[in-house]
Amino acid sequence: MNEPFLSIRDLHISFSRYTPKLTIEQITPVRSLNIEIYRGEILAVVGASGSGKSLLAHAIMGILPSNAKMSGEIYYDGQPLTPKKIKQLQGEKIAFIPQSINYLDPLMKVKKQVQIGLPKKGKKKIQESLFEAYDLQKQDGDLYPFQLSGGMLRRVLFATSVRDSVKLVIADEPTPGIHAEALDKVLKQLRVFAENGMAVLLITHDILSALSISDRVTIMKDGTALETASANKFEGRGEQLKTSYAKALWRALPTNDFLNAEGLDNVTM
Ligand SMILES: Nc1ncnc2c1ncn2[C@@H]1O[C@H](COP(=O)(O)OP(=O)(O)OP(=O)(O)O)[C@@H](O)[C@H]1O
Ligand SMILES: [Mg+2]
Repeated sequence: MNEPFLSIRDLHISFSRYTPKLTIEQITPVRSLNIEIYRGEILAVVGASGSGKSLLAHAIMGILPSNAKMSGEIYYDGQPLTPKKIKQLQGEKIAFIPQSINYLDPLMKVKKQVQIGLPKKGKKKIQESLFEAYDLQKQDGDLYPFQLSGGMLRRVLFATSVRDSVKLVIADEPTPGIHAEALDKVLKQLRVFAENGMAVLLITHDILSALSISDRVTIMKDGTALETASANKFEGRGEQLKTSYAKALWRALPTNDFLNAEGLDNVTM
C-alpha cells in the first residue's frame, strides 16, 4: 500500500480548567488518536458532539487554542507538519472548511475572501464562476459575512476550498443549514476532489451522507478512533464491523431501525 498523505500518530490534546471549587483539573478530550488519510480518498470522521472531531481538525491546522496542550505527531506527505509549514500550505495546498463561520473575516467583502489563494490572473472570473456553481448571486459578493444567511456563508466557506492546487481538504461539518440541492453539490464536489487525487477529511455527524460518498469511515468516541472501516462494511446488521459501538451506531440509523438509539450510551467497545 502507498504511504498515507496525512498521518496522525498518538495525538493527545488536553486543557487545564478551573473546577467550581477553584482547583485546577486537566481534561484530555483527544487521546491516543491515530488517523491516516491517503491520496484520492475521502475519510469520514463521524462521532457524537464533543467527541473531539473539531479539535482534530484544529490540531492539523495548527489553530488549537493557546491553553491547549498537544502531543503526538502529524505528518504531511511524509514530512512533519510544523506550524510554519501549515502557514505555507494553507489556502494553496491545504483547504480548511471550518465548522464555525466565525472564521470568515467580518470586515472583508465575501468575494474578496473567496478570491484569496486564487491565481492573480483571472481570480475575479474564477470567484464569479464559484459563486454561480454554489447558487450565490453575483451581488452577494459585495456583502460582508454578517449580511449573509448561515447557509449562504457555509457555501462561501466551501467555495474558498475549491482550488486546483489543493492536495488536502479538511471539511469540518460543511453541510448543516444548507438545502438539499446544495448539500448534494457539496458532497459531489468532495468526491470530485478525491477523484482528482486529493486527500479529503470529512468531519460530520451525518453518517448516511458520509457513507454515501466516503471510502472509509472512522468512528470517533471520547476523543479516540474506535474503529475505521471501509464504507461498504456498513451494511446489513453491521456484521462486518468490529466494535459493538460501530455496529450499534449503524443499527440505530432511522433507515435501519433495529436498535433504539438510546441504547448507544450503554454500548462501549
Ligand atoms: N477551548 C477549550 N477549552 C476546554 N475544553 C475544550 C476546548 N475546546 C474543546 N474542548 C473540549 O473538547 C471536547 C471536544 O470538542 P470538539 O469541538 O472537538 O468536539 P466535536 O466532536 O467537534 O463536537 P461537535 O460535533 O459538537 O462539533 C469538548 O466537549 C470540550 O470538552
Ligand atoms: Mg465540531
